[in-house]
Amino acid sequence: MRQQIVAGNWKMNTTLEEGIELTKAMLGKIESPRGLVVVAPPLTHLHGIGKLLQPHPQFHLAAQNCHQEPKGAFTGEVSASMLVSVGASFVIIGHSERRQYFMEDNITLSAKVNAALSQGLKPIFCCGEPLDNREAENQVEYVCEQIKAGLFHLPEEAFKQVVIAYEPIWAIGTGRTASSQQAQDMHQALREYISKKYGGSIADDTSILYGGSCNAQNAAEIFAQPDVDGGLIGGASLKSDDFAAIISALK
Ligand code: PGA
Repeated sequence: MRQQIVAGNWKMNTTLEEGIELTKAMLGKIESPRGLVVVAPPLTHLHGIGKLLQPHPQFHLAAQNCHQEPKGAFTGEVSASMLVSVGASFVIIGHSERRQYFMEDNITLSAKVNAALSQGLKPIFCCGEPLDNREAENQVEYVCEQIKAGLFHLPEEAFKQVVIAYEPIWAIGTGRTASSQQAQDMHQALREYISKKYGGSIADDTSILYGGSCNAQNAAEIFAQPDVDGGLIGGASLKSDDFAAIISALK
């Protein structure tokens, strides 16, 4: 079954104390969400915030990244099994900021997807084109290539665990959101692409989230599109009122 999901990517924001306050405020404002709510705080907050989320079955904890190796001499890195041990059930993989600032390429990302899945962590696999590709109108080819390189090595059962987040790079943190039609067109193209590889039923069951300047004002229109299954929210997930409003916009 395709799930409706709103995921909050806090990125490198909040102290632990602020994160706990934000989580409590969020839990106080969101009653019976229509879909799953995923919270991705900084690594240092996972354990504490996971404990706050635990009594709420529709709230899930995510990490923003994991290393591709199971353990060993990788100073500063964290493995998928470590994330599971503090209560994470999702992990964001391949966010454009990781690709851009940390040089994560498709080979590394596909290995990270494998590492997450091997521990039962569901990847939220991010894809999205730079402005140049949008202007050259080859955005669909660009994003399909990311999906192919990062995910299409997976057998069917593994692929079914993956959530996809389409985040056009030109819309992330810029206040310039894709129009609901642009989001729908890309999501539909991705679903068709997945269908060619895994068949219509798996494609139909895949959750594809939109991300990039999604906020309390535009979420309802974007989420109403037939191939949009919720959102990956950055800036607006740091304000409990806005995040609650975005969650209430789920169909
Ligand atoms: P934004 O970020 O909502 O602040 O644009 C989205 C994301 O990067 O996941």
